[in-house]
Amino acid sequence: MIEIRGLIKRFEGKAVTRNAVDGIDLTVPEGQLVTLLGPSGCGKTTTLRLIAGLERPDAGEIRIGDKVVYSSDDHVYVGVHQRPIGVVFQSYAVWPHMTAVQNVMFPLRSGQKKLPVPEARRKAMEALDLVGLADLADRPAPALSGGQQQRVSLARALTREPEVLLLDEPLSNLDKGLRDRVRDEIRAVQQRLGITTVFVTHDQDEALAVSDEVILMEFGRIVERGPAQQVYARPRSEFTARFMGISNSLPGSVTTCGDGLADIALAHGELRCVAAGELAEGDRVNVFVRPESLSLSRKDSTGRGWKGTVEFSIYHGDCWDYHVRVGDTLLRSRIYKEKVGLSHGDPVFVSPDEETAIAIPAGAGAVGGQDATPLSGSRAR
Ligand SMILES: Nc1ncnc2c1ncn2[C@@H]1O[C@H](COP(=O)(O)OP(=O)(O)OP(=O)(O)O)[C@@H](O)[C@H]1O
Ligand SMILES: [Mg+2]
Repeated sequence: MIEIRGLIKRFEGKAVTRNAVDGIDLTVPEGQLVTLLGPSGCGKTTTLRLIAGLERPDAGEIRIGDKVVYSSDDHVYVGVHQRPIGVVFQSYAVWPHMTAVQNVMFPLRSGQKKLPVPEARRKAMEALDLVGLADLADRPAPALSGGQQQRVSLARALTREPEVLLLDEPLSNLDKGLRDRVRDEIRAVQQRLGITTVFVTHDQDEALAVSDEVILMEFGRIVERGPAQQVYARPRSEFTARFMGISNSLPGSVTTCGDGLADIALAHGELRCVAAGELAEGDRVNVFVRPESLSLSRKDSTGRGWKGTVEFSIYHGDCWDYHVRVGDTLLRSRIYKEKVGLSHGDPVFVSPDEETAIAIPAGAGAVGGQDATPLSGSRAR
């Protein structure tokens, strides 16, 4: 288990206006994998480096298991080598003059708890077996593929049997197919060992695929957190909705609400939505609609479709994205059909699926904005 309270890190410098990590509270339960997800510069790597002891915080407390490894109040600071952690970074960082197994043995053969060669080799082979590389143990590191080198890094991080695994964008140097395979491998090993893990990524698909819990960060703070399915299907802030790929947003106001639903008056008509948080009649909201929840038709069979014009389409292999102008708004509709046959300039009717759109109070969760909703510190559920 990892517990973090009130963690703050500020880098000195003329241009620095915000704390890189700005008061983070975080609990990673025993055996769970939590991802830190957010845009470039939001403080993911810094948070991970603070947990690892590679960077010294300015304030707060960090516990790993039952041990306090940092406390500003009690003046505790445990160095990186004394923390029970394994770390994997984006660059594979395997040593090119060694074989796979020598790379994995290296941490076992250094430091105060240096193991004899046969035992170090046995442990290293166990770790390589865990990541499916036992057959390539004696191959020189440069003769391994990118994915294999990344798995050597993972094996090396696991060989000391750490309490906690810290992974910083471990997949981002790999191409798409390999990325999925190594991602699955990491999740499989993590679940098999039941090892408490923090996984940093800026890729929402990757975060959804591997996480027990997703933590969304912006400007050094936590904006939202929850199980992957919840963050995906029921975002509570505009930032999260956009970050999770809900590209369609429409301003509106609440006409009626209750039981977690709300009727929203939009420029093009009324729509029944799922309410994110407490809403009251007259509240200004932004309605977020997934592209998959917008259907297109040439005829307005329901009488409730929004009249629009196709601007352009993008083919993705398993689906089409149609960009349709409705009034001043450009909406994206994703259609999983072999042939739709719409092209630039065609008139269409856009129909949102009822109760899939999400109405979020305007400005909710904007860390940097004036309407900031302070979610960090409280579990936003
Ligand atoms: N050593 C440093 N000195 C000064 N500023 C730093 C240092 N390390 C990070 N920062 C700043 O702290 C902020 C957070 O950086 P961090 O590397 O944690 O972001 P990140 O979320 O990991 O981004 P990315 O997705 O690009 O890796 C950024 O504004 C960055 O410029
Ligand atoms: Mg980073």
